[in-house]
Amino acid sequence: MTSPASQAYVDTYLAEDDHLADARRRADELGVVPIGPAAGAALGFLVSVVQARSVAEIGSGSGVSGLWMLRAMPADGVLTSVDLEAEHQRHAREVFTAAGIAPQRFRLIAGAGLEVMPRLTDAGYDLVFLDGDKVEYGEYLDEALRLVRPGGVVVFDNALWHDRVADPAHRDPETTAIRDLLERVSTDERLRPLLLPVGDGLLAAQLVD
Ligand SMILES: C[S@@+](CC[C@H](N)C(=O)[O-])C[C@H]1O[C@@H](n2cnc3c(N)ncnc32)[C@H](O)[C@@H]1O
Repeated sequence: MTSPASQAYVDTYLAEDDHLADARRRADELGVVPIGPAAGAALGFLVSVVQARSVAEIGSGSGVSGLWMLRAMPADGVLTSVDLEAEHQRHAREVFTAAGIAPQRFRLIAGAGLEVMPRLTDAGYDLVFLDGDKVEYGEYLDEALRLVRPGGVVVFDNALWHDRVADPAHRDPETTAIRDLLERVSTDERLRPLLLPVGDGLLAAQLVD
């Protein structure tokens, strides 16, 4: 395993600009934990390699992950982002606008992930990023596999959940839900999975054509 020094090196290897720093400051004020810098870069990389033009996100927060993904998409790429808290999305909107992202490139929907996802288009997304309620991760997977096109990718943040997932002593609902998700993804023959130990853990899975 990498040492804390190496982890810190990885997290500062790619510097974030003032707009991402502003989004992190806002997240802090709201009490929201955004994706880490290295995991944000990995997420943007995945968006770029699948040449995503259409991305769905559950858990907008103040827009850290959203800005990483919008910047990794082409100029006509659109992010649809869902959050329970309209106030969080107000900050995300301000962050995207200040960063020069055109308003037609992001659609912010206030609501619960599991209520909004059934209304989104089947196979209409190149990548679906899940970062809402950890207890709902299994249900997010069911919905995300309907939303993502063949060859597209689903990605979950917090797949290591503060080192709790790897420690069998932890059996709280969030940890258990994430463990169950990891087990399902690793055994589902429709998926090509990848667990990345960046930040708090990123679980990616490609829906095999
Ligand atoms: C970890 S933060 C998201 C951080 C964001 N992805 C980023 O990296 O900047 C989780 C967000 O999910 C939202 N959330 C929590 N439960 C939710 C649910 N059931 N449906 C939709 N959003 C939810 C919270 O309001 C919060 O803004």
